[in-house]
Amino acid sequence: MNRDVIIACDFKDKADTLAFLDQFREEKPFVKIGMELFYGEGPDIVRAIKDRGHKIFLDLKLHDIPNTVHKAMKNLARLGVDMTNVHAAGTIDMMRAAQEGLGEDALLIAVTQLTSTTEERMQRELLISAPIAGTVAHYARNAKEAGLRGVVCSPLEAALVKDTCGRDFITVTPGIRFADGDVGDQKRIMTPALARETGTEFIVVGRPITQAIDPVAAYRRVCKDFLG
Ligand code: C5P
Repeated sequence: MNRDVIIACDFKDKADTLAFLDQFREEKPFVKIGMELFYGEGPDIVRAIKDRGHKIFLDLKLHDIPNTVHKAMKNLARLGVDMTNVHAAGTIDMMRAAQEGLGEDALLIAVTQLTSTTEERMQRELLISAPIAGTVAHYARNAKEAGLRGVVCSPLEAALVKDTCGRDFITVTPGIRFADGDVGDQKRIMTPALARETGTEFIVVGRPITQAIDPVAAYRRVCKDFLG
């Protein structure tokens, strides 16, 4: 799979999402469908966007017992998604079961630590005493051991993940902001141009594009900075 910019379509319903995508006449951006849209609209939202020619990253971050995740992934494979994910915190056994359920046609990646989680909260609330970078590297190693081909991580950790798991191990990095834009609730962020230098294959960009006055122009700006 080539390097790409993935737009996080965190809209409340199908109508808003398709209206947003209608603005793109020349490009067919890679689209991320998250929990809000999927739980609101059901699997048909995936089919509708796929039918329009977009690639789909279905971001449901599965985290359950291995048997349940295996069966859920079999259903996601039938939907024809291009990329989907699990929480690495679900253990190596769970990630292995997810990979078996999904098969090889789609890219399965693991969430290490959410980009909204700070080291202080991870240590105080989750009782993970290691530094956040060490935790991310460790979770990435677990994902690789389970047979996954990559992880979701902050762009600040992409280089570390590649040092730990090899250059071929794919990173998908949200937490992208323009230098002159709003940060919102994201904590560990980077600009598209700096993300490019980390070697990350995919950046996930939501509000800087979806809330822009001109979303197509914002998407093109991200692509120019990240893809060159
Ligand atoms: O609007 P924004 O650019 O912050 O959107 C980022 C997207 O990436 C959101 O859909 C969020 O759920 C997702 N994400 C994240 N951090 C992760 C995994 C996914 O922000 N570790």
